[in-house]
Amino acid sequence: MAHEVVLDEDHDRGTIDPRLFGSFVEHLGRCVYTGIYEPGHPTADAHGFRGDVQALVRELGVTLVRYPGGNFVSGYRWEDGIGPSGDRPRRLDLAWRSIETNQVGTDEFLGWAQRNALIPMMAVNLGTRGIQEAADLVEYCNTPAGTHWSDLRRRHGRAEPHGVPLWCLGNEMDGPWQTGHMSSERYGDLAAQAGKAMKLVDPTIELVACGSSSHTMPTFGYWETDVLDRAWDVADYISMHAYYEEHDGDRRSFLASGAAMDEFIRGVAATVDAVAARKHSRKRVAISFDEWNVWYQSRYEAAGLPEVDEAGPRIEDTYGALDAVVVGDLLITLLNHADRVRIACLAQLVNVIAPIRTLPAGEAWRQTTFHPIATVAATARGRSLVTRVTGPPVATRRHGDVPAVAAAATRDPETGRIMTYLTNRAAEPATVTLRHRGRRPLAVESCQVLVADSDGPRDRRAAPAFGFVPLDPATGPEPGTITVTLPPESWTVLAALGLPTRGT
Ligand code: AHR
Repeated sequence: MAHEVVLDEDHDRGTIDPRLFGSFVEHLGRCVYTGIYEPGHPTADAHGFRGDVQALVRELGVTLVRYPGGNFVSGYRWEDGIGPSGDRPRRLDLAWRSIETNQVGTDEFLGWAQRNALIPMMAVNLGTRGIQEAADLVEYCNTPAGTHWSDLRRRHGRAEPHGVPLWCLGNEMDGPWQTGHMSSERYGDLAAQAGKAMKLVDPTIELVACGSSSHTMPTFGYWETDVLDRAWDVADYISMHAYYEEHDGDRRSFLASGAAMDEFIRGVAATVDAVAARKHSRKRVAISFDEWNVWYQSRYEAAGLPEVDEAGPRIEDTYGALDAVVVGDLLITLLNHADRVRIACLAQLVNVIAPIRTLPAGEAWRQTTFHPIATVAATARGRSLVTRVTGPPVATRRHGDVPAVAAAATRDPETGRIMTYLTNRAAEPATVTLRHRGRRPLAVESCQVLVADSDGPRDRRAAPAFGFVPLDPATGPEPGTITVTLPPESWTVLAALGLPTRGT
């Protein structure tokens, strides 16, 4: 099938926010304990954090990390996780039915984030707790000295404030599974008051109000409207969460996950803008897509309630090649909304639906999904170009007709490098002509592809064999064009050099 992608160097949607390449660490299963933190591990640093995992986190190129939940935060007493570790209580966490030992808490996590140059995004508990506890946590983290909570932090050995710039006002408060789930009106009022108090403690912070926990929530749209009506003055971002999986062997719909995500983002942006219009407000509330990934959630739900344990495994999905292609497709959608989606967090970072897996006392390794994430985080620099894609669509059961080829492109003004990311969602090869409008013809530097049909057994031994293979694009047929044939069900990265803007 023949497709065309038009790239115009001068037509972009703005600068890509590096916070688009964030991730998420929740006190869930083995994400924290035996994930990022394992004091007895041979690679552990002086603080008890695994060195092998930190090396992989750096290689992944993550820029920001959300913490400590997720559903966990809605029952969390943050004061349990500060002070001498021997005095910290063991608590039953209701969200994931595990014993939380509190050996990792606010100071340990924020120290780890700082040592790894990660921007922290903290969430406050608006499920079982409220305004005062949220304001107290901001004071503990961000007030330099001279108040009860800041002086306590100093007594705990942390003289400088942590300076946490971003805060989530609770988590998925629209979800009936959430501890403290409430109506949109109640949550909107609570978020407005908690947010006001938090910004009185530190006026520099930015706040994320909870949006819908998925596009399929019955309250989707109404929830965002009610919440923003009430919390408009304090909300800088509205959150989005979405997980995708292959249902009943329906590969075509699964491969169209990026199109489904696109529709979801458009719906949220339109809803937010409608609230702004009604309020005659020029404020532009951005989107924090603070949970996204492939997650075989129906399998987790079918397994029923887990037995209570201490840092036992939970939702350690093993990913195959098809999942990596879908993750690449989702990244294309995020890049194509870079003007509105300023923050995004791959959920999660280690062990729990994660690109990095570990064995307790053993090795750490990359899952298949590691590859597209690391590639985009390392290469998508500068401006997100507007791409126009034409060609025959592909029919899907869940999402109707979707473009068979998805494309995103970025241009780094420093180097003149143009990156193009392409998904072929169809079962046939797709021949794509890239029509470039720019300062001089592009010179292709490299082109490589991840192919879904390289799916081997979904075990960790298969993952090292999985990776990019080279593709061979041709220049032409006309001046200013490049032609490349994408294998069926694949995700391609093409790097090409134009002229840098600086110095021309
Ligand atoms: O990421 C796993 C869980 O998914 C999070 O705790 C929750 O916010 C979402 O439902």
